[in-house]
Amino acid sequence: MQESVAAGRRPDGVALDTPRRYGLVTRLFHGTLAALVLWQFAIVALYKIFGETPWLNGIARFGPHGYVGLAVLAIAVPRSLWRLSQLRRQPPQERGALGRLARLSHLALHGLMVVVPALALVRIYGKGKGWEIGGVTLIPTTGREEPWLIAAPDALHGPLSWALLALIAGHVGMALTHALVWRDGTLKRMFGRL
Ligand code: HEM
Ligand code: HEM
Repeated sequence: MQESVAAGRRPDGVALDTPRRYGLVTRLFHGTLAALVLWQFAIVALYKIFGETPWLNGIARFGPHGYVGLAVLAIAVPRSLWRLSQLRRQPPQERGALGRLARLSHLALHGLMVVVPALALVRIYGKGKGWEIGGVTLIPTTGREEPWLIAAPDALHGPLSWALLALIAGHVGMALTHALVWRDGTLKRMFGRL
């Protein structure tokens, strides 16, 4: 820090990204969204495997699908804005095809974390029954079903969710390859010392 002050640069602190590592804010966004999104898939997968059982309903009640999805949307939007604000500071991706693939997949992860839950909300609006949480109207009741508004979410919410899961599997696989095979410190940019 003294060096950066001596060199006339502002000390970075731990909150912001630097070209060497992601900062605390990015890490908090990353960890929170990863946990919420993985929860969604874990619960959906368990329902697909075991069907509706009392024990699974009991677990799912800790984080109902709609509420957790809404939280993902509410956090993913500021996270994407935060990422934009850090673009010039963030650790750079390597040159070449792998770096481009990493940039593209990160972009797709950001996009799908917004689009997947947003589509589900459009569907609720299109059904006309509204959505109220704790007395607060989140989506107004129109009393009219709009088939053209429901069609896209019906067709896309599931498939885009599975595409998101496939991307996450590739993302985690690459993170582990960096850590265990190439041992190039990429994992430390997100999880190492600040
Ligand atoms: C536990 C599993 C995970 C591990 C080990 C992991 C690891 C990492 C690492 C090491 C980076 C930095 C990559 C780099 O600098 O090139 C990163 C970035 C990123 N990760 Fe993950 N990740 C995990 C789960 C997830 C999940 C579930 C999502 C999305 C739902 C996600 C979305 C992202 C995004 C968008 C970035 C780019 C940085 C940013 O824009 O904030 N990650 N992850
Ligand atoms: C990140 C957020 C979300 C993820 C990852 C996600 C993921 C999924 C997945 C994997 C399925 C199963 C699809 C299938 O059976 O093939 C599903 C279904 C469903 N989700 Fe979500 N979801 C999210 C947000 C939401 C939100 C915010 C709502 C509503 C408020 C919602 C409502 C539904 C409904 C009603 C279904 C059953 C009908 C359908 O498959 O489209 N989801 N979701």
